Amino acid sequence: MTVGIIGAMEIEVEDLKSLMDNAQITEISTVKFYCGKIKGVECVVAKAGVGKVNAAVCTQTMILKYFPDVIINVGVAGSLSQNLKTGDVAVAQRVVEHDMNTTPLGDEAGFITGLDTVYIDCDGNISDKLYNAAVRAGDFNVEKGVIASGDQFIASQEQRDEIIGKFGAIAAEMEGASIGHVCSMAGVPFGVIRAISDGADGDSSMDFPMFAKMAADISVKIILDLLEDLK
Ligand code: ADE
Repeated sequence: MTVGIIGAMEIEVEDLKSLMDNAQITEISTVKFYCGKIKGVECVVAKAGVGKVNAAVCTQTMILKYFPDVIINVGVAGSLSQNLKTGDVAVAQRVVEHDMNTTPLGDEAGFITGLDTVYIDCDGNISDKLYNAAVRAGDFNVEKGVIASGDQFIASQEQRDEIIGKFGAIAAEMEGASIGHVCSMAGVPFGVIRAISDGADGDSSMDFPMFAKMAADISVKIILDLLEDLK
């Protein structure tokens, strides 16, 4: 079994790459893919870059080159839930592209033409395993629900309220739904786990730089626990 792991930023994948035995590194379209075993499980790890296009390119390349059995998106997010404070964890059951908008044509907000859905379902088995790994990993709240992605850093109460109101999302980030979109087109099971770095509100521009590394470390710890489980 090969587990694909994608993060947007270096802090989200650097520890996973350094824990890999005999990493084989291949660069494609400026993305470096690290292939090797972590905790005895065959993995391919990549830093996609920030945003939906970078995430889609990375995901499609990983699928075509490495044939992963599952892809997990790891990293940090802004909280859209009153249950999730900085250092808590969101596990996606479904993802949504909150900035997809063909409503002038009569579609629902977030509707993805082609997939013909607003919400993309994560793999239930992987989501359950991620949730259980998160609960085991430490002393923080873990919530399952919708994770919303868009090409925007959410840093105001208005943006926050809009995404909650339209999609009932518990966390906002910039890649998970794009990875889910590509995985769904290719028939590859996927999951998203995000630790909270900020509240996706007026304080986020200050909080994100302060807490992103701490939150990224929590999400990586959960991935390591999951790999132990998959071994
Ligand atoms: N990732 C972490 N915090 C975020 C936010 N507030 N908006 C979008 N992506 C994020």
